[in-house]
Formats: sequence, C-alpha cells, structure tokens
Amino acid sequence: MIQPCGVRLAGTGSAVPDTTLTNNDLARILDTSDDWIAQRTGIRERRVSAGAPDPVFNLSCLAGQRALDMAGVKGSDIDLVILGTVSGEMLCPSTACRVAAALGATPAGAFDIAAACSGFVYSVNVADSIIRAGRAKRVLAIGCDAISSVVDYTDRTVSILFGDAAGAVVLERCDDPAKGCRYQTMSADGANWQHLYMPYRPDIVPECDRANPIRLGNLRMNGREVYKFAVNRFREVIEDAFQKTGLSVDDVSQVICHQSNARIIESAIEKLNLPREKVLVNIDRYGNTSAGSVGLCLDELNRAGKTPDGQPFIMVAFGGGLTWASCVWDK
Ligand code: COA
Repeated sequence: MIQPCGVRLAGTGSAVPDTTLTNNDLARILDTSDDWIAQRTGIRERRVSAGAPDPVFNLSCLAGQRALDMAGVKGSDIDLVILGTVSGEMLCPSTACRVAAALGATPAGAFDIAAACSGFVYSVNVADSIIRAGRAKRVLAIGCDAISSVVDYTDRTVSILFGDAAGAVVLERCDDPAKGCRYQTMSADGANWQHLYMPYRPDIVPECDRANPIRLGNLRMNGREVYKFAVNRFREVIEDAFQKTGLSVDDVSQVICHQSNARIIESAIEKLNLPREKVLVNIDRYGNTSAGSVGLCLDELNRAGKTPDGQPFIMVAFGGGLTWASCVWDK
C-alpha cells in the first residue's frame, strides 16, 4: 500500500560556462547584428562552453552539487538521478549515470530524458511521480544542455539563439501531502518533429531540408514554424494550469517560463495579463539554454527569495519533439 506523501523542494542549483559570447561577437563571424538579434529574440549574450571538454556532464555536476549543498545532503543520500538533456556527450551511457557516480550517488538509479527544452519540467514531473509512488525518497532532477557544442556557427538562424546552462533540484519525500506537484502535464506532437531536430544519419533528414547544407549531429530549426507553435502552445499551457488548479495569477509567486525568445514570453504576458514581476526574463543574459533554462530561472528566483514557502509557482516549457510540459508546484 502506498502511503500518501508530499514532495519537498529541498534545494536548487545552477551552472553556466565562464565564456560569454555576445551578439557583437557573432556579428564578427556571421551576417547578423546586435540590433537584429536583440529585436527579434531579446538576447544580448549567452554563455558557451567554447570547446571545454564534457560540457553537459560538467555543468550538470556543478548544478547538481549546488542543489545538494543547499539541501544539506550528500550524493549518497540520493536514490535516483534524472537528467533532461539532448546534447549529452554520449547516448550510452546516459549522462545521468556519470553524473550520479561523480556526485557519489552510486548505486542510485540514473537515466536521461530526451525532451529537448521541456527536459527539466519533464524530469521534475517524473521525479515527483516516482517519489509519490513510493519508489524513491530523494531524487536529483537536472536539466542541462550545451547546445553551443551542437550548433553550426555558419547557420545564423540557429546559432544566435542558444547558450549553455544547467539547473537542478533536490526533491524529497515529506509527510505533508500538500507539498510538491499539484498539477502537471507532459505532451508531445511527434508528427511535427522536423521543425526542430538533430540528425545523426543522412537518411533521416526530411524532404524539406534535403537541398540545404546539413551537418550531421547539429541542430536544425524551422524558426517560423517553431515560433508559431510556441506562441500558441505557451499561452494554452499556462491557461490550462490556471484553469485545472483553480488558481489565479494572484495566488502564484512566479510563472517560470522556458526562455526561448523574449517575444514569445512577451506575447504570453500580454495575452494572459501576467504581472511582469512574476515572469522572470533572463534570456538577454543567457540566450535559449534548452533544458537548462527553467532550472536556471528557478534557481535564480529561489536564491533571491522569490519563490516563498506556502505559495505555488508554475513552470512551463516547450521545445523539440515537439514537446511541451507544465508543473504547478506547491512549495
Ligand atoms: N541575422 C540577420 N538576419 C537574419 C538572421 C540573423 N541572425 N536570421 C535570419 N535573418 C533574415 C532572414 O534571412 C530573412 O531575410 P529575408 O527577409 O531577406 O528573407 C529575415 O531575417 C527574416 O527571417 P525570419 O526567419 O522570418 O525571421 P523571424 O522574424 O522569424 O526570426 C527567429 C527568426 C529564429 C528569431 C524566430 O523565428 C524565432 O525566434 N523562432 C522560434 C525559435 C525558438 O524559439 N526555438 C527554440 C524553441 S525551444
């Protein structure tokens, strides 16, 4: 018999590489400009791994250790490590296995979740469900991507958007059933995968992209299609979270959004009449960090005391797959 329980957010952590790549740096190697990038995306600069070895592994370990430190626990106290990523250095083993070992969590279970930019929210949702099912007591959930290592820097439509980052949380079983994930969604539309994909074999390249120069292992994106998908889905996902929980924007401390493009976030703020102080936008500093972005925002907000205990917050993300996800968390 499963004993009802809650899930406590015991610690958060994040990490970004030291190297900053500004729009002006990109304008020196590409036909683009600071103005164009800033106006279309809100991005001014991003952090990139710049050839540093093993970036997803290293950023995940740093963010994970910081979350463990805040939680006041050791790696050996963790039962399971879940890592949302699509840019890990190897498909086998999963990056989560190496992160678990490096943090001293062996023999905790470990696996990666490939849900692109939705990876952190998927990981938190799965972690909460596993703890509530009584299968784990303490889970380290991480979202991390180093998209700079899988971007073609001759492709100005993709390379301007992305940076590298990791965000992590320690989630632990607690007696108060009102704590943790009160509502969650995880969705996908695989029929439209070709709008955002990373091919490893030439035969998988879709018809619409065959005439273009493709670098295997690099991210391909149809920006206009992704924009349309994101702008509509983003609003729907946030609306759905409010409707299904009966919460209003006054009840939540923050709506933590995947940082894909400032215009996409701006459109949600306007259409849903969200107060600006409840929607962090840090894309100007970090770009789109894929699975890293929501965890990076959560850590920034948590450390600034902007996700107080006793008040729920919402996390929403969308990305390649196409995937999208939400999580209403009672802290
Ligand atoms: N610098 C300067 N000009 C550029 C450029 C760049 N980096 N990238 C494209 N352009 C040009 C295009 O060639 C095009 O020129 P043309 O009119 O002469 O043909 C023009 O700018 C408009 O291109 P378009 O692709 O329509 O731009 P856009 O307004 O759609 O902006 C994105 C492009 C990528 C910023 C935008 O589509 C976007 O943000 N999409 C969503 C991406 C996203 O969120 N991805 C991650 C999802 S998790």
